[in-house]
Amino acid sequence: MVDVDFIDDRDRLVELAPVAAASIQHHVFVCTGKSCSAADSAEVKNAFEHELKTRGLQYGTIKKGRNPNGTVVLTECGSVGFCAVGAAVMIYPEGVWYAQVRPADVPEIVEEHIVNGRPVERLALLRVARKAADQTD
Ligand code: FES
Repeated sequence: MVDVDFIDDRDRLVELAPVAAASIQHHVFVCTGKSCSAADSAEVKNAFEHELKTRGLQYGTIKKGRNPNGTVVLTECGSVGFCAVGAAVMIYPEGVWYAQVRPADVPEIVEEHIVNGRPVERLALLRVARKAADQTD
């Protein structure tokens, strides 16, 4: 096991991980597990990347075509159990899990859910429950 020093200086942490100081409003996960991959999840992820970059929403470095002031982080993840109904896409903080997402659905999800705050109900299969005290919106 690698012995890594714990860093407790917050400024140093932000220096090492600038995203920690960014104004992130959404985190989009696209499952790239085996079954979702068979349902073109790589293309779904590429479609999110294209749509978010085009709108200047994807957080990241300019050299990667992203926006340092972007508000959306896009990452891949492993299986979440939607294997038979992929591609699976999860968006937080709303905790909406989308099923059967295809690349053609991505512009609608970005426009409706991320920009306008209205989840796309026809694709939403699960909402992660939050404690009542956390539900301030
Ligand atoms: S492989 Fe994507 S949910 Fe299982």
